[in-house]
Amino acid sequence: MLVRHRDPEAVARAAASAVVESAFRAVHDHGNFRLVLAGGRTPRAAYELLAGEFREEVDWRRVTLFFGDERCVPPEDEASNYRMVRDSLLDPLRLPPSSVRRMAGEVTPDNAAAEYDVELRRAIEDRQPAFDLVLLGMGPEGHTASLFPGDAALEQRHRACVHVTVPAQPADRLTMTPMALSASRQVLFLVTGEDKAEAISEVFKDGSRLPAAIVSQMAPSRFLVDEAAASRVGA
Ligand code: 6PG
Repeated sequence: MLVRHRDPEAVARAAASAVVESAFRAVHDHGNFRLVLAGGRTPRAAYELLAGEFREEVDWRRVTLFFGDERCVPPEDEASNYRMVRDSLLDPLRLPPSSVRRMAGEVTPDNAAAEYDVELRRAIEDRQPAFDLVLLGMGPEGHTASLFPGDAALEQRHRACVHVTVPAQPADRLTMTPMALSASRQVLFLVTGEDKAEAISEVFKDGSRLPAAIVSQMAPSRFLVDEAAASRVGA
């Protein structure tokens, strides 16, 4: 489902509200809230709202945060998704390390992927669906997390987390697979900007094989997009 918003600020606000609502429902239903975070630039504004204006709306003691993907760099690196989340959400909320299941970008990629695979399987075996909400972004060519068009990881049926080499920098990544990303009550894509318009238009065409389309067809999903990113839908 596509939900249009005026601009990136409105998308961020809608995303933060969706997190608050999902957290309330999850804590009511099973006493805890498992949230998978997106990397990249788009979600930062939503994280800042959650750590600021919305901070009292979530019982952060009951939250466990996972990552949909990570660049294979140390957590202090400018390119690290963990660093972006730490700066915009974890530090401002002073969340304890026990709330966060970090992908170890500083570790040998195959070992880090195997470690996180165990972590995710534990969550998947413990509860179905494993996650209450998965936040994702989307690249201009339709990639999501670090699942790029045509990558073998899109067909992965056994592993929940794999090491991939992608046509972007940094090239070495850890990513949850579609099987893991879709093990969620809800998936929310946050997509803004004219450069995403072509891919958004493609995602909503029947039979799309873009990674964002594949994942969105596997779980209840919504695309929160601004007018710029929605500008070619139906074209
Ligand atoms: C990453 C993200 C990636 C991101 C898209 C969109 O590690 O970069 O997981 O999938 O969501 O590339 O990135 P922007 O939000 O920066 O446009």
